[in-house]
Amino acid sequence: MATNIQFVDLKKQYAPLKEEILAGISEVLEGMHLFLGDNVQSLEKEFAAFCGVKHGIGVSDGTSALHVILRAMEIGPGDEIISVANTFIATAEAIAMVGATPVFVDIDPKTYLMNLDQVEAKITPRTKAIMPVHLYGQMVDMERLRAIADRHGLKIIEDACQAHGAEFHGRQAANLGDAAAYSFYYSKNLGAYGEGGFISTNDDEIARRVRMIRDHGSEKKYCHDMVGMNARLDEVQAVVVRVKLKHLDDWNNIRRRHAALFAELLADSPVTVPVEAEGAKHVYHLYVIRAPMRDELQAYLKDQGIFTGIHYPIPIHLQKAFAFLGHHAGDLPVTEKAVGEILSLPMFAELSDEEIVRIADAIKSFYAIHLPEGNVDDVVVTGQVN
Ligand SMILES: Cc1ncc(COP(=O)(O)O)c(C=O)c1O
Repeated sequence: MATNIQFVDLKKQYAPLKEEILAGISEVLEGMHLFLGDNVQSLEKEFAAFCGVKHGIGVSDGTSALHVILRAMEIGPGDEIISVANTFIATAEAIAMVGATPVFVDIDPKTYLMNLDQVEAKITPRTKAIMPVHLYGQMVDMERLRAIADRHGLKIIEDACQAHGAEFHGRQAANLGDAAAYSFYYSKNLGAYGEGGFISTNDDEIARRVRMIRDHGSEKKYCHDMVGMNARLDEVQAVVVRVKLKHLDDWNNIRRRHAALFAELLADSPVTVPVEAEGAKHVYHLYVIRAPMRDELQAYLKDQGIFTGIHYPIPIHLQKAFAFLGHHAGDLPVTEKAVGEILSLPMFAELSDEEIVRIADAIKSFYAIHLPEGNVDDVVVTGQVN
């Protein structure tokens, strides 16, 4: 019996880094300076340099990164933020946390990213910002989005929580947007061993306000100039992320090679493989295929010891938490169709070519049984929208 292929296997990543990480953590514990110390400050410089931006601010998690940016821009009740419903709940949650209203546009059917053709029609006098999500590791066309935002005097807050190292025409997030939020959730391309997040920006004033808000609105201990919050990054997590940052480029390049191998092996199968858009450098945080009979395929793969995911099964506009927005099924047809068909295959740097071949073979053998003629048009798509 072949061994299982996990969706993400972080034990394999940890083994070669273990000594360096443990030495760094031990040093932090010996010194007992646990928050916003040398490691956080170094990480802020190192990851900002990696992203090609002026300022980097470590925060407690990606959701807080989005929240703190919105607070720094003084976005609040009565304001509207244009975003997408095909994303993790945190994108819209952060908007709701400041009392603003998320306004959703549909996605592009090929990249699953914000459909930029629909943005201008959603702009009202209440719109303050656009929040694109660089989902699955691929950036939105930021040149086009910047032009739209500038025409209407809007800010851009980039949800780059899945896009560490992704580029559009050679530029990473926050180079054309006003600020970007990253998550160091443990399974991200760059992850901590607990919670962590990061804000990058070229804007001096946003950076200053973000620094204050993440630490109770203070620049000087016990002097609080504004109402802030506790969104600090801790030193132990900063140690872990600093060690991993040195490998991020290599890991992303390996992910890209894995994606190319998957695409080659699945070329003659009924599934649709991810598209890297013109100008984009996709870093494949998730390798999301579109699959006829998705739920049956997922169950079949599980029986073969291959674990997959769905990102995300229920779009935000149809989540109970956002029922107050008054959306109905059918409001975002491209998003709603996609969520019933998408399937995330195992994707991490330590995945071997043999495992990729095994996954592709299993997918092909499923369709050889269920779609022997390969007639995708006749397939009734399964998967629930709500
Ligand atoms: C697109 C997106 N936005 C926001 C977040 C929130 O990040 P965190 O889990 O670190 O709060 C995540 C991560 O899970 C994400 O994938």
